[in-house]
Amino acid sequence: MKSELYSVRMQASVKSMHISGAERIVTAVKIEEVVRELTARAMSRCAAPDRIVVKIESLGNEVPRELTSLNVITVDVPDAMAGLSGAIRVLERTGISRHAASLAFDVLNKGAAPSGGNMRGAMIMDARTGERLEPGQERGVRASRFDWSEEARKDIERDLKAVGLTHYRTREALALATKVAYAPGVVAELCWSDEPDYTAGYVASLQTGYVRFPRLKDIGNPKGGRVFFVNRDALNVTKLIDYLQFCPVLITAIGECRAAITPDDYFTCSKESDAFTGYRR
Ligand code: COA
Ligand code: AMP
Repeated sequence: MKSELYSVRMQASVKSMHISGAERIVTAVKIEEVVRELTARAMSRCAAPDRIVVKIESLGNEVPRELTSLNVITVDVPDAMAGLSGAIRVLERTGISRHAASLAFDVLNKGAAPSGGNMRGAMIMDARTGERLEPGQERGVRASRFDWSEEARKDIERDLKAVGLTHYRTREALALATKVAYAPGVVAELCWSDEPDYTAGYVASLQTGYVRFPRLKDIGNPKGGRVFFVNRDALNVTKLIDYLQFCPVLITAIGECRAAITPDDYFTCSKESDAFTGYRR
């Protein structure tokens, strides 16, 4: 019999401003260790948090959906302009209109929340028209309740390290992007961080895999966010949000991790061969 699983989630803030969040899905015997790790993560930020909330919830009878992580490739763009045009090209390949892709960039760069700042979650955007469909534009929608199995975590750490990706953010973003890529109605995701010093971002989809761009914004820029592009014809927003927030997902097998290549190579090679794409649809 499988041991009971728990969702362990940490969220830390300073004066109500979010500074750190992370989560795991583990068996009961691992809870103590994971709480320690997540708390240490919260305390390791430059600003010491004045509030750390750790929630531990049994998944009860829910059996996590098992997924294989998206294939990973880095397109080595020299600057944010090249990142923008590369990311738009990849989005167009997944069927997102140029209009919606450009609009997503404009909105994230401006600050996607109506108050002018970053949102607390992701936008849901019509892949054709660019219309925003998330229920609250300040908050957006957050993907949650996902993790790597112990074995897959070791495997992905090894393979990401082999291609020079050692930051835990990449592993966590890849897990989130994998859950999102399998969401009902989602065509692709666009993301870059709101941390001023972290310029990398990605486009992810089942079709293309996780396509990482080391530069999607200039250093010092505090704007960032996520966009989940959806096919409106096949969309049930309630079901989508329920899957993203609540459906537990364990990544139990890993996709391929490829070394960085130039935009020219990426766009030439991936046109002719599926070797650079997700090819698991
Ligand atoms: N930005 C700003 N505020 C945030 C936030 C974020 N990214 N995440 C959480 N908060 C704050 C909000 O005030 C939120 O209230 P809201 O629902 O009105 O927005 C409050 O914390 C509670 O959030 P909630 O999601 O209900 O808490 P939780 O304990 O269930 O989960 C997280 C918190 C942070 C673990 C979860 O939301 C999450 O983002 N998980 C994914 C983490 C991850 O691996 N990210 C990959 C990064 S590369
Ligand atoms: P981060 O990757 O943590 O730097 O977050 C970048 C942006 O993604 C944030 O500004 C939020 O808008 C959004 N975001 C953060 N967490 C989530 C999540 N769990 N699901 C969806 N969007 C998120």
